Amino acid sequence: MDLKGHLYRLLPGRLQPRCKRAYLTLSPTRLTPGNIQRSLSSSLFDNDAAYRSYLAELDESPFTEYRTVMRDRYDEHVGTQTTNEQKSISGGLDDTAARNLYAVVRSLQPSVVVETGVHYGHSTAYILAALSRNGHGHLHSVDPVAASSCPGDTEEPGWLVPETLRDDWTLHVGRSQRVLPELLPELGSVDLFLHDSDHSAPCMLFEFELAWEWLSERGLLVSDDIHWNDAFPTFLDHRDGDAGRLSLNAGYVRPSGRR
Ligand SMILES: C[S@@+](CC[C@H](N)C(=O)[O-])C[C@H]1O[C@@H](n2cnc3c(N)ncnc32)[C@H](O)[C@@H]1O
Repeated sequence: MDLKGHLYRLLPGRLQPRCKRAYLTLSPTRLTPGNIQRSLSSSLFDNDAAYRSYLAELDESPFTEYRTVMRDRYDEHVGTQTTNEQKSISGGLDDTAARNLYAVVRSLQPSVVVETGVHYGHSTAYILAALSRNGHGHLHSVDPVAASSCPGDTEEPGWLVPETLRDDWTLHVGRSQRVLPELLPELGSVDLFLHDSDHSAPCMLFEFELAWEWLSERGLLVSDDIHWNDAFPTFLDHRDGDAGRLSLNAGYVRPSGRR
């Protein structure tokens, strides 16, 4: 934990929310979209131009057209009208995190990617689009079909993922608690792990601990919805890692000192 965290914990409980609000409003490094982007590009990319080139490549790729198809299919299936192009598909990784995840996969060039929580397949599709552009790498996704609980779930997890991207994808049907202890040793090591499944603290900590154990030297652990509970900050407190954000909701950590 850094000095800021120690000071925060020394404050009386009733003052903590007020001090947090004041800090978030006044700090020059507060979590604005611009600050998140700057910190991400300087931490995980060779330089800002490289980071921006991956985002530009995504915007110009056929995948961007497919996003419109995804939204239309989603609206038709779930019975909503997704009007704002930047709005995320409900229940999925937000668009900022999804786009940044694409750029990270392009830069990291992972061989083995594991994600938990597929749902309609929003994050899955972005990871697969980047792997396809890389020309190598495989995504293993874990989701128990029966646990999908959002409206319109009548099809298998990942039904929005384009057919053309499915060659580099294996869906493991089951809860992460059952699947990961067998899958990760089988894979040997993981270059990128994304948690987006059951956001209870025990499940998040279970996945983080296990993923960290099997993370490759240059590996990266990403978690969506890090504000749901204390699991992500608690995990960071006990690990020697460099952490940052893909968006306001999604965080990442990797073993310290990697570049
Ligand atoms: C937030 S959604 C995933 C969103 C997805 N990553 C996206 O961007 O579209 C959560 C998913 O986690 C799955 N899930 C719930 N409990 C799980 C568990 N224990 N292990 C793996 N997946 C789980 C649910 O079935 C659901 O599909």
